[in-house]
Amino acid sequence: VSVRAGDPRAIGVFDSGVGGLTVLSELHRRLPNESTVYLGDNARAPYGPRDADEVRRFTLEGVDWLLRQDPKLLVLACNTATSQALDAVRAASPVPVLGVVRPGAVAAAASTRVGRVGVIATAGTVRSGAYPAAIDEAQSSIVVSQQACPDLVPLVEAGQTDDDAARAAVAGYLGELLLADPGIDTLLLGCTHYPVLRPLIEEIVGRSVAVVDSAFTTALAAEDLLDALTARRVDLRPPTRRIASTGDLGRFSAVARLLADGPLPPVEAAELASD
Ligand code: DGL
Repeated sequence: VSVRAGDPRAIGVFDSGVGGLTVLSELHRRLPNESTVYLGDNARAPYGPRDADEVRRFTLEGVDWLLRQDPKLLVLACNTATSQALDAVRAASPVPVLGVVRPGAVAAAASTRVGRVGVIATAGTVRSGAYPAAIDEAQSSIVVSQQACPDLVPLVEAGQTDDDAARAAVAGYLGELLLADPGIDTLLLGCTHYPVLRPLIEEIVGRSVAVVDSAFTTALAAEDLLDALTARRVDLRPPTRRIASTGDLGRFSAVARLLADGPLPPVEAAELASD
């Protein structure tokens, strides 16, 4: 693996759109001296309804762009991409690759007391079965109920995080999930766009259900990996932070401001080499 001690290169972060910024914020909090470069493939979001081959192809094209920025580590900050393309990305990448599914599963397994977890995610992530498998690997006795929420990513990408449409959609999906298993005590946000809807989600599920996501545990996994490789950046100069999108830059910035934890760098235009 081509990672160096004290490696000054950036961490590359990929999502289909703005959702991965929830993971990026956590990476910045946990690893403030690391440089980052983020790519959102907004022009082709949502990935959720696409078939696995297409998700794999688009993700590899995004990763190819990130690899050209010379990162030391890649984070697939998208559950849909992780659940269907992690192996392909690992095979194509000269640097280590972390996904968000295992960290999300670890967070859910650590949270549940009664051994019943609900997962909300995109249609592709639900269909892949990646979460039930990863939660089972974390702790085998946990019962997992899943609910696909195809309308949520388009709402978040449009910046609609607290209006009537968002409220109705979230209430509808959570109603279905709670009907399937009224006994869950943990709800895992299995899509990196959903933490933006957390206030709404928490209001609807009530206090007896803990809402967890993969952002914090993914940042923890990145920290552990860099430490294991002694590859943390040691440079005393400030790190660089870049954000790029394949989509409309004005729209990206407007929505990104809702998700980011601080001022955003100017968003760059990224052109992916597609075949
Ligand atoms: N943030 C992506 C995820 O975590 C959203 C996928 C999509 O574009 O539908 O699944």
